[in-house]
Amino acid sequence: MASLGLVLLVAVVVSAALMPPSAVAQQLTPDYYASTCPNLEAIVRRSVQQSMAQSQIAAPAALRLFFHDCAVMGCDASIMIVNSNGDDEWRNTANQSLKPEGFQAILSAKAAVDSNQQCQYKVSCADIMALVAREAVFLSGGPYYQVELGRFDGRVSTRDSVRLPSVNFTLDQLNAFFSGLGFSQNEMVALLGAHTLGAADCPFFQYRIGDPSMDPSLASQLRGTCGSNPSGGFAFFDPSPVRFDNAFYRNLQGGRGLLGTDQVLYSDQRSRSAVDSYASNQGAFFTDFVAAITKLGRIGAKTAATGEIRRVCNFPN
Ligand code: HEM
Repeated sequence: MASLGLVLLVAVVVSAALMPPSAVAQQLTPDYYASTCPNLEAIVRRSVQQSMAQSQIAAPAALRLFFHDCAVMGCDASIMIVNSNGDDEWRNTANQSLKPEGFQAILSAKAAVDSNQQCQYKVSCADIMALVAREAVFLSGGPYYQVELGRFDGRVSTRDSVRLPSVNFTLDQLNAFFSGLGFSQNEMVALLGAHTLGAADCPFFQYRIGDPSMDPSLASQLRGTCGSNPSGGFAFFDPSPVRFDNAFYRNLQGGRGLLGTDQVLYSDQRSRSAVDSYASNQGAFFTDFVAAITKLGRIGAKTAATGEIRRVCNFPN
């Protein structure tokens, strides 16, 4: 038996060595920086606390940024790159509504980490994004969870690589997109609970004001919001936009979802039971959200062979 074990071990080691670097997944672990930057989590938390004190948009915007990064080319901070030729992810129209406060929260946390002698230039922007996203959730009253670390930063960001869901996707289109990232329908419903934080601008929901799935009193309220100020108007996703809670799902039960992709989770029978369960059980939502965002954080994690530790998050080294 011992020799069989040895043969298997050798086979695994040899086949891993033969794989191209991109196929060898980066092993992520919460204690990745335990010896190189032991105070990392405290440094990032303090920085996010300061960002949140400066702006209520910081936490929602940083959480959204993490999704927009991970869903395109993996969680490699490619969304942060500013290319001098103008060809980069954030200049794709799908990213034009990302709020500057989210980018600023990442840059501030990176500056705080690098101002610590021991940590300087050792922590990737991709890992800082994952940590800032966790703080955005936790400091807003959501669950605390361990963040897996050890991602390297990508060197590439292009406008045409961006594929993100549209606000009018059907459940089938949503399932197709999220299953491509490795999520089940239930995991997707849990992940979209991120829309418990923040707001959306009128252009994203104005077209469905008066839709039969929309509560008429919300419709008249939104007509007022967007009618008087169509380009600058916005509405909060739920009545507690700075609290990470399960109010988002209760909102959907009342036809008070803002985005078509949010409300369809309740309108479509196939996902309604997941919405009902999270609406009545915040603990179940928190547990499933943590599993889903941890899974999001594993997408396309780069290694030392495929990435780098960026000195400045906006530019490859
Ligand atoms: C079907 C998939 C999704 C669609 C269509 C979608 C769409 C949107 C839209 C249109 C906005 C409003 C943007 C604005 O007006 O500035 C928004 C905001 C937001 N999204 Fe999503 N989103 C999706 C998935 C996600 C996921 C998976 C997360 C995080 C895990 C997320 C987190 C957020 C947050 C926190 C905000 C609030 C941002 C703020 O207030 O600045 N979204 N989303």
